[in-house]
Amino acid sequence: MTSILPHGGTLVQRVVKGEEREQLLQQSANYKSIALNTWTLSDLDLIGVGAFSPLTGFLNEADYHSVVKSMRLADGTVWSIPITLAVTNEVALSLSVGDKVSLIGEDDGVIYGLLDVESIYSVDQTIEAQNVFKTTDPEHPGVSKLLARPNTYVGGPITVLNRPQPEKFGEFYFDPADTRRIFAEKGWRSVVGFQTRNPVHRAHEYIQKCAMEIVDALFLNPLVGETKSDDVPANVRMKSYLALLENYYPENRTFLGVFPAAMRYAGPREAIFHAMVRKNYGCTHFIVGRDHAGVGDYYGTYEAQEIFANFTAEELDITPLFFEHSFFCQKCESMASNKTCPHSKEHHMALSGTKVRALLRDGICPPPQFTRPEVAQILIEGMSQEVTS
Ligand code: ADX
Repeated sequence: MTSILPHGGTLVQRVVKGEEREQLLQQSANYKSIALNTWTLSDLDLIGVGAFSPLTGFLNEADYHSVVKSMRLADGTVWSIPITLAVTNEVALSLSVGDKVSLIGEDDGVIYGLLDVESIYSVDQTIEAQNVFKTTDPEHPGVSKLLARPNTYVGGPITVLNRPQPEKFGEFYFDPADTRRIFAEKGWRSVVGFQTRNPVHRAHEYIQKCAMEIVDALFLNPLVGETKSDDVPANVRMKSYLALLENYYPENRTFLGVFPAAMRYAGPREAIFHAMVRKNYGCTHFIVGRDHAGVGDYYGTYEAQEIFANFTAEELDITPLFFEHSFFCQKCESMASNKTCPHSKEHHMALSGTKVRALLRDGICPPPQFTRPEVAQILIEGMSQEVTS
């Protein structure tokens, strides 16, 4: 095992198999049900396998209010993002505390799990938005998702009976128990986790490799759950990660596995959440660069780093590695940041995400100082398929 403990001390395991599963499936035929969309289904599964340890279910009322207000569960454990199950008024009225409910995929009718109803509560989503996203602006993608959901939540422990099956890249899905075992088998005592919802550009590569200089290995852990529609689709990104790893990373010090969660775009609070989850996957270190999990201008460039100061090192128990905005400097002829480069801005190559997407859409590779040509090629192909499909 890696030396790092899961968040809260124990890796939660709520996936039931074999005879017990058969029995529970039979019993669940008599239960009321709640429909899960792709987002809540991914939350259910991630709770079940312990990626969200110490959570054992969707937040109950006491934990919810505590998380929204003070980034801690009711028992004081650090937890920054409310993981909740919203239901319509009609469903809420049909339920009582103490009920057992089956959790069913809204698209396929599969019984994915069970919930022991511990609390049913209505919330003020404006307060949740303001505290979690630091804005109530409905243009913010996380806020708009939040406000589109009913404001009554059902909380309580869950059990997983069926796992969602990935359509593609199934070989890159690992549960925290798997990654912990694999890291240990490889003899890695320190592993840095890297969250991304984008292709890996040179700035990402630079900060990853700086981190790799001080730890045993990199866990490239791209988020592949729900993202906003103008983010590069996960399938295209996966191909680009494979090309990059094959050409530019040492095989014996890198590991690629996906993080099948939805992106919240909650900036600072999501950085804390991302770090806790990567601890559960067995990482000892976690990279937080510029505007981590941010969107638009809602968060300050380094706010997602500053938020870590609210917690003690013991409470976090994973070492965040902070990186400044990185760029290619033509005078240095290398990647750098303001911490390492003395030259003025006009020597720094700066391309906005919008500009890069426009180039790729026109079939033009961005400069190699920005994106590796192997990666650019895959993104260009991915974008042309998007246009033609
Ligand atoms: S995120 O929403 O998943 O955080 P992204 O995939 O762009 O977005 O970023 C992944 C990680 O790289 C984050 O920690 C982010 O802060 C960092 N990062 C992205 N671009 C840069 C950059 N130019 N300089 C430094 N850090 C960066």
